[in-house]
Amino acid sequence: MKNKNNAVEPHTLVIFGATGDLTHRKLLPALYFLEHHMSLPKGFSIICAARRSKADAEYRNEAEKSIRQFSRIKVDDSCLRKLLSRIHYHQLEFNDAGHYTSLAEYMDKKRITRGGIIFYLATPPIFFDATIKNLALAKLAGISKKFSSNRVVFEKPFGNNFETAKNLNNEIRKAFHEKQIFRIDHYLAKELVQNLIVMRFANSIFEPMWNTNHIDHVQITVAETLGIEGRGSYYDKNGSLRDVVQNHLMQLLCLTAMECPKSLSADDIRDEKVKVLKAVAKSGNLRKESVKGQYISGIQDGKKVIAYRSEQDVRKNSATSTYFAIKFRIKNKKWKNVPFYVRTGKHLKDRATEIIINYKKPLSRLFMAKDYSLENNQLIIRVQPEEGIILRFNAKIPGNKILIDQVSMDFCHECKFGPNTAESYERLLYDIMRNDQTLFTRWDEVENSWKIIDGVRDAWHNIEPYFYEPGTWGPKEADLFIEKDGRKWAVPQKPSYSILLQK
Ligand code: BG6
Repeated sequence: MKNKNNAVEPHTLVIFGATGDLTHRKLLPALYFLEHHMSLPKGFSIICAARRSKADAEYRNEAEKSIRQFSRIKVDDSCLRKLLSRIHYHQLEFNDAGHYTSLAEYMDKKRITRGGIIFYLATPPIFFDATIKNLALAKLAGISKKFSSNRVVFEKPFGNNFETAKNLNNEIRKAFHEKQIFRIDHYLAKELVQNLIVMRFANSIFEPMWNTNHIDHVQITVAETLGIEGRGSYYDKNGSLRDVVQNHLMQLLCLTAMECPKSLSADDIRDEKVKVLKAVAKSGNLRKESVKGQYISGIQDGKKVIAYRSEQDVRKNSATSTYFAIKFRIKNKKWKNVPFYVRTGKHLKDRATEIIINYKKPLSRLFMAKDYSLENNQLIIRVQPEEGIILRFNAKIPGNKILIDQVSMDFCHECKFGPNTAESYERLLYDIMRNDQTLFTRWDEVENSWKIIDGVRDAWHNIEPYFYEPGTWGPKEADLFIEKDGRKWAVPQKPSYSILLQK
């Protein structure tokens, strides 16, 4: 069904992995939000499929509990009842083809296939392949016109290297066209990430200086205070490079470095992002251009943290990274000689996701004398928490002598727009329903990102990480790594407006 106005249409949403954490913490509360804020269309049904046997009533009770616990808005009983009445539970073994045939029969019997079906794979990735094959066998998906209004949604990780991602993608493309595939990277739905395009291209003051003539280097940080939160068996196979760098950080890099797209259409934006990924240098000594770290035991914020290697389901001699820092070079005219330093880590000192544009030192001969220590101008895009944009520049200290200090001008997102902007999954589910792929990654983005990450991973394969204590900014080697270029990591600081947010 062609949806010219991008309006939400009646659909059936089938969630595979409906008893899992993602469904209960994120998807069900997000569906509740959508029901509450825009009333899901008449005829919209939700089939929750998972391995355990359950009656509808039992699953609805569990769904109600999760929505009450995790909803970020106050739960209204009548709206909740409306949502729950749309939910049906269906028992299904992901690897069993026969179970998909009975799912198709069940949907036929209930006549709940109007408006196309959205298949949401909230399962562990090992089931992606079988689920897609079985959907096609059960004639619930296929590349013929009959299925053209169906959509399929994948959580990350999409493959665990270029080869596995390519194989998975080939399998999916036998049953779905690229236009029907929604690969989630929840960072793209963060307000300040979406704001990057507006800030850069809807203003005349930033873009003319967004290049090698004015920018010294860029830093992108995704720092977390949390650890691996009981996900040892997933995390130990992936590490921070695959868990965060391959997807979230590469997307932040693309949106920061890309040229202005031809239009705001999903494909024009994705075309520009792919150009960046293709221009990222893949040669050179990748070991020297990066730092891999792992946390040991220690005390963070007064609490004991066990070493990564002692976490449940982690190998005792694991060389997996819980910290990664890397210097990317983008081989084009715009970014000639401008390094992009990118880092992420678990159990770091503070939670902060920031993109920092470090401008070149001002060259004015007026302030060349030694007593003026001029700081580089900085533009900080604070993605989270305390979302906002901060411009740091030099100003005169009051008095009869010219003394200079660095001051800042701030845009505080919450102070201006309030605290209730949509949470990532609310926005993503809404966009899937109205068929807008802008906040999802296209295959060539995933492909080119894996090609970069595979090279880095090979360079570090089985090599011991550098260790760091929880509650610090990572291994000291990461400091030396940037200092040898004559630069320093910017320590994320609470913006001055955070005082307003506490009131
Ligand atoms: C997920 C990673 O994709 O992103 C997690 O798997 C990480 O390890 C999380 O903690 C970070 O997301 P956010 O939105 O909390 O910054």
